[in-house]
Amino acid sequence: MDLEDKIVLVTGASKGIGKDLCTSLSSQGATVAMAARTKKLLDDLKAEIEGKGGKAHCIEADLSRDEHILSMFKIVRERFGRLDVLINNAGIGIFGSMVDFSMQDFDKIMQINLRAVFLCCQQALKMMIKEKNGHIINMSSAACLKGYANQTAYTASKQAIIGLTRSLAAEAQEHNISVSVILPGGVDTDMISIARPDLDKSVLIPPSDISKTVIYMLGLSDRSMVDEIFIRRRAKPV
Ligand SMILES: NC(=O)c1ccc[n+]([C@@H]2O[C@H](COP(=O)([O-])OP(=O)(O)OC[C@H]3O[C@@H](n4cnc5c(N)ncnc54)[C@H](OP(=O)(O)O)[C@@H]3O)[C@@H](O)[C@H]2O)c1
Repeated sequence: MDLEDKIVLVTGASKGIGKDLCTSLSSQGATVAMAARTKKLLDDLKAEIEGKGGKAHCIEADLSRDEHILSMFKIVRERFGRLDVLINNAGIGIFGSMVDFSMQDFDKIMQINLRAVFLCCQQALKMMIKEKNGHIINMSSAACLKGYANQTAYTASKQAIIGLTRSLAAEAQEHNISVSVILPGGVDTDMISIARPDLDKSVLIPPSDISKTVIYMLGLSDRSMVDEIFIRRRAKPV
């Protein structure tokens, strides 16, 4: 797929799914603006991408802070002048039983997995409306479709993303802006090792499959659109 000249902002770019998204999208020609808190990991990723002839720019941002989100979009505006694609990938998982779960942890999850996504969508939309073009992809989770013990707060945050996406998609389409959501099952990253230590790595979805899904979504003509993709782990053949 040719993403040449596309400006793509990926949050949670330092590792896991976000890191793979950045390498995959840049290999298709996109210029990736990569946001996360860990500067060293972003710098290493930029060097890796540029070493392969790609274009990448690091943005250090803590999405729990509104001012960091606003400055992240200011950087994109000033450096690139527009934003073609936003991938709201950053997320955190804090897992534990309902009776022991602290409200501080509940707030932390909602802050990153929902509040930050809302503000990022709002900022991206303002830029995209001016261009009458854009695509926002939000990362939900298959955990929404099947309840898992000890994941109540995480699942609630990810279910909210589906509602947010559907409403925003209806609102944004008159501006020629698409808003989609992906619901992955267990992907081979640090997060799943914490959420599901019982799962063998060999049954997990490789992050590259999420990147392929995103590239497919971005490759459709402007006469069609995929609203939601649920990509699940395949049962291991016996
Ligand atoms: N792995 C799975 O099985 C799975 C399944 C379904 C959905 N998902 C969703 O997919 C997304 C990516 O997950 P992952 O598995 O790749 O997780 P991960 O490996 O733990 O990576 C999370 C990313 O989010 C960033 N992040 C966390 N808190 C942040 C903050 N306050 N400010 C800025 N960035 C922050 C991290 O960067 P820094 O620490 O450097 O800031 C990191 O780059 C998440 O939204 C997750 O809920 C994952």
